[in-house]
Amino acid sequence: MPGLVLHVTGARPNFPKAAPVLRALTARGVEQRLVHTGQHYDQKMSDVFFDQLNLPRPDVDLGVGSGTHARQTAAIMTGLEDLMLAERPALVVVYGDVNSTVAAALVAAKLGIPTAHVEAGLRSFDLTMPEEINRLVTDRLADLLLCTSADAVAHLGNEGVDPARIHLVGNPMIDTLLANLHRFDAEAARAAHDLPARYIVATLHRPGNVDDPADAAALVKSVHAVADQAHIVLPLHPRGRARLQEAGLFDHPALQIVDPLGYLEFMGLVRGAAAVVTDSGGVQEETTILGVPCLTLRPNTERPVTITHGTNQLVTRENLPDAAAAVLAAGRAETWNVPPLWDGKAGERIAEIISRVLPRS
Ligand code: UD1
Ligand code: UDP
Repeated sequence: MPGLVLHVTGARPNFPKAAPVLRALTARGVEQRLVHTGQHYDQKMSDVFFDQLNLPRPDVDLGVGSGTHARQTAAIMTGLEDLMLAERPALVVVYGDVNSTVAAALVAAKLGIPTAHVEAGLRSFDLTMPEEINRLVTDRLADLLLCTSADAVAHLGNEGVDPARIHLVGNPMIDTLLANLHRFDAEAARAAHDLPARYIVATLHRPGNVDDPADAAALVKSVHAVADQAHIVLPLHPRGRARLQEAGLFDHPALQIVDPLGYLEFMGLVRGAAAVVTDSGGVQEETTILGVPCLTLRPNTERPVTITHGTNQLVTRENLPDAAAAVLAAGRAETWNVPPLWDGKAGERIAEIISRVLPRS
């Protein structure tokens, strides 16, 4: 079909990034199909985003489910190859750095179908992260590289990417945040979880933190030392749940473990939090906009702009308790910076660039 745009999503962080792009392209009358690979499938990891973000239901659900990296990526590729051969899209749009992202970029490239990568150019320079491998491969293959920050543009330049293919567009995840800000009810979220006035929100799911039993045990000790200082609510990602439970995560009276939350409930909690402890990519960005101190339990970040222009700092398991004490003592800032172009208009900019490259029907 001339001009058809195929969006490939599959994991939780993809959905808030895709929503504003789909909306802006719909407003321009562009023909689109939305694919869900099925990488994430629990109601709270997937469906709830479609319900809450007014995302259209996927036209196609590949239903691949969980698996090793090779098995999951291969299953997504096989499903997408059949689909792309049948639909022959003019452009495939991929989001972020998950296995669904790289699988789609590989299939499209081999079929000679142009690809746009939303959130291109982010680099942790840490190849032990599966996401870094996915970012490098996806960016090497993509035709349109749509960047959230100036550092990402610079990385792509350093890697020899033609500047004509690189566009600084801002952050579509922040479009979703700003469009829904009025729906983030901190007080209702606090009451729903019966939390004290001062509380911390935590999320933990990176393989480097939760996969190995020794890492998990050290992590639990560190997080418990934070819970000694302030009540923590932790919506726990399914990855590592069993490992963290074995390591004793659940055995602290001021650490409240809950299932993954819907986007609006989660953001309501974050909005009202005294601080956030996380290893998530997206949460580093969201706390930056909301002005909530963010302690990122990672040795590096592909989102340094959240440190230079935001509320984020990197911490280790060793220094997390002291860092938490410092941010709790300091309280939340009255004013803070936000990164350039994180203004709610990234989806519009992306749609404008995509519209320019689509064939006229
Ligand atoms: C994936 C992404 C990661 C992203 C995270 C966001 C890759 C390589 N990783 O990690 O970059 O930060 O999503 O949430 O793509 N599971 C369920 N229910 C689900 C989904 C997963 O129980 O709906 C469990 C399964 O046991 C599965 C495990 O979680 O094996 C890991 O899921 P997977 O999608 O492979 O990786 P994530 O750790 O979720
Ligand atoms: N999120 C949510 N409920 C939760 C945890 C996270 O709605 O319980 C949202 C939040 O907006 C976050 C996004 O899901 O930015 C993606 O989070 P995740 O940490 O899974 O992925 P990452 O950004 O690390 O790839």
